[in-house]
Amino acid sequence: MDSVESAGGRLGAVLSAPRSGAVALGRHGPWLVTTPALARRVLTDPGRFDFPGDVSRSGDLSSSRGATRSGHVVFAPLTPDAVARGVAVLDGEWDAALAEHDRRAPGEAYDAMALLRRPVARSTVAAVLDTDTRTRDLVADLTLAWIDSLAPVISARRPPGRWSRVRRGERDARFALDDALSAVPGLPAPAEQVATVLAAGVQVPIAAGAWLLGWIAAHPADHDPVHAVWETLRLTPPTWITARITTEPVDLAGTAVPAGRVVLVSPLLLGRLDELVPGDPDGGFDPTRWEDTSRRPGAWLPFGAGPHACPGRTLGLGQLVHVATWAGRHRLALAEHVRIDQSRGISPLPCRFTVVS
Ligand code: HEM
Repeated sequence: MDSVESAGGRLGAVLSAPRSGAVALGRHGPWLVTTPALARRVLTDPGRFDFPGDVSRSGDLSSSRGATRSGHVVFAPLTPDAVARGVAVLDGEWDAALAEHDRRAPGEAYDAMALLRRPVARSTVAAVLDTDTRTRDLVADLTLAWIDSLAPVISARRPPGRWSRVRRGERDARFALDDALSAVPGLPAPAEQVATVLAAGVQVPIAAGAWLLGWIAAHPADHDPVHAVWETLRLTPPTWITARITTEPVDLAGTAVPAGRVVLVSPLLLGRLDELVPGDPDGGFDPTRWEDTSRRPGAWLPFGAGPHACPGRTLGLGQLVHVATWAGRHRLALAEHVRIDQSRGISPLPCRFTVVS
């Protein structure tokens, strides 16, 4: 597996920055905060650290489309009933996806990102919308199609023009999803908001689940599923960085940041701090470290914090623990070297594994 530590690009720049509080990564920023206290301050004070408006090119779908603080919609956490519905669907759909692969390509390695698509999409749709199976599956496929159509928009070097092929493709996929959602009786929120929740709640857990399978396949052992999940979210949180914009001049532990500048918080960086992690934070994938209960898993904010914290956290954890529990009943092996795709958060590409027993 490629290591995040030796990755280039933005990942490398963030990890090699001095951990001295708030660090300017360029002459005019962005500024990166490197302590848990500053990270919490940035994420929990939306008055001074505004949520960026245009998320379509932020490299991260875990955000909504409201352009301003006042326009931003705050999503309520999913209810326990909704989470239970979603996890139950993942249970059946995961077995179905494995069986489908074995029927179509017997003996061939599984591609984790591909294998997780439908189970996660249907599980998240089932949690967010209490609807019939046909509608659930249609909305799940349209959500996946929208996410796929967003990928070239997000990863383009320069913003694609409004009438470019990729933008038109993305708009068409988005309208198809909106139309399907508008036809759902008793939709819990306007179609556009539901679409945003679904996209965030499908793309990120697919990447997290693929990392989880990759780590377990690379380190076969009798892992505790919950510890394996936290260790995955520590080493490779899919939303490895998030941004806020200062609304006024701020002082970040002695560093002056003017108004209108970008401040970054990185759960991936925080997950490598001694004070937040039992044992050696640079010691690689070691779920047993979480047997030591002196540190709280999640203190490095893999689900964010404050008003924009992840409303699907419990569902995401439930989905991942289910996958880890399945993996624990088998012995997995990586079928090929895993690289890091930085085009939208971080995801393992490819992440192909076999089930040895
Ligand atoms: C392992 C799975 C997941 C991880 C690691 C994760 C991570 C995150 C993070 C870090 C944020 C905050 C981003 C920021 O502050 O800029 C976030 C926001 C969000 N997540 Fe998740 N998420 C997961 C699963 C889900 C699921 C299952 C759903 C939906 C059912 C969901 C829906 C959302 C939404 C709608 C937001 C935006 C909240 C807002 O802007 O107010 N996520 N997620």
